[in-house]
Amino acid sequence: MKVGLIGWRGMVGSVLLDRMREENDLEGVEPVFFSTSQAGRKAPMDAGVLEDASDIEKLKKLDVIITCQGGDYTKEIHPALRQAGWQGYWIDAASALRMEDDAVIILDPVNRNVIDEALERGVKDFIGGNCTVSLMLMGLGGLFRAGLVEWATSMTYQAASGAGAPNMRELLAQMGVLHGAASDLLADPASAVLEIDRRVTEALRSGNMPVNEFGYPLAGSLLPWIDREVEDGQSREEWKGCAETNKILRNSNPIPIDGICVRVGAMRCHSQALTIKLNKDVPIADIENLLANDNEWVELVPNTKADTLSRLTPAYATGTLRVPVGRVRKMKMGGQYLSAFTCGDQLLWGAAEPLRRMLRILQQ
Ligand code: HSE
Repeated sequence: MKVGLIGWRGMVGSVLLDRMREENDLEGVEPVFFSTSQAGRKAPMDAGVLEDASDIEKLKKLDVIITCQGGDYTKEIHPALRQAGWQGYWIDAASALRMEDDAVIILDPVNRNVIDEALERGVKDFIGGNCTVSLMLMGLGGLFRAGLVEWATSMTYQAASGAGAPNMRELLAQMGVLHGAASDLLADPASAVLEIDRRVTEALRSGNMPVNEFGYPLAGSLLPWIDREVEDGQSREEWKGCAETNKILRNSNPIPIDGICVRVGAMRCHSQALTIKLNKDVPIADIENLLANDNEWVELVPNTKADTLSRLTPAYATGTLRVPVGRVRKMKMGGQYLSAFTCGDQLLWGAAEPLRRMLRILQQ
């Protein structure tokens, strides 16, 4: 099997390649590395030289293409390749093709049945989901699988990495500016905290924070709008919650899902607080069982302060495949109203992991 890798040098691509190395995914396949700018140079993993990522003839020889190059590349190359008669499998991290009728959104621990049926039907385009949606379904999959969700709201706390690698740097640079604004006072235990706060607020509003990427200070603040506006005051990130969840689960009766997506000062772990309206009053122990046993990565965190603060955080989940879910309890509105909180690494389950697993499925 000839597998082309495109966009492997970027942030998602690097995480993907690391995971593929860890899991020996390229053993038994012939990897061909492509580049949009450095064709002819040496490829990684002793795989010869880099090929030109816009060379349709070269791409046509591949059985599988895995791309993390981004939506613009997909929009340009995918139709050209298909038009040229290419019949291979296209596995993509970008959102460009996600909602196409003949594309499947891949999250195999949740929708392996949908993927398998699509393969049987001859579907060739397999697209990774939005990170927040994938992480919600990895955490709460048990409830969806059991058909218990009438509707859900997801209020998100999304990390800087979701906006891109330069944004992660900018977040830290902003933190540094805020620290610098008050560092002399911080060093003096007798200094007045309101003076520290005044300096930090002044720095936040000074116009001197590095904001090229985010446009606004994120450190010491938060940004309750992600991506562009779609309609009815919804952001595109919020729109994806409902559209993609129902496509991943292939629901003929879509489950309403809505909420507010917020950027916070975490590095690469997205978190979300959920309010779930169940379609019946199920005992909490049954709910916990469904959640805990849905897949091998979800970790049910007991709803105690100590467990929550040590294991239901970005600090705990970052850089791992764990998807902790906790704060699971019935809300005061009644027995059909459930609260939950979940977090997970948006570069792993939120981006790279479903792609490498799709390649494995194709090898089976
Ligand atoms: N759109 C997501 C975010 C990342 O901005 O956090 C990619 O799915």
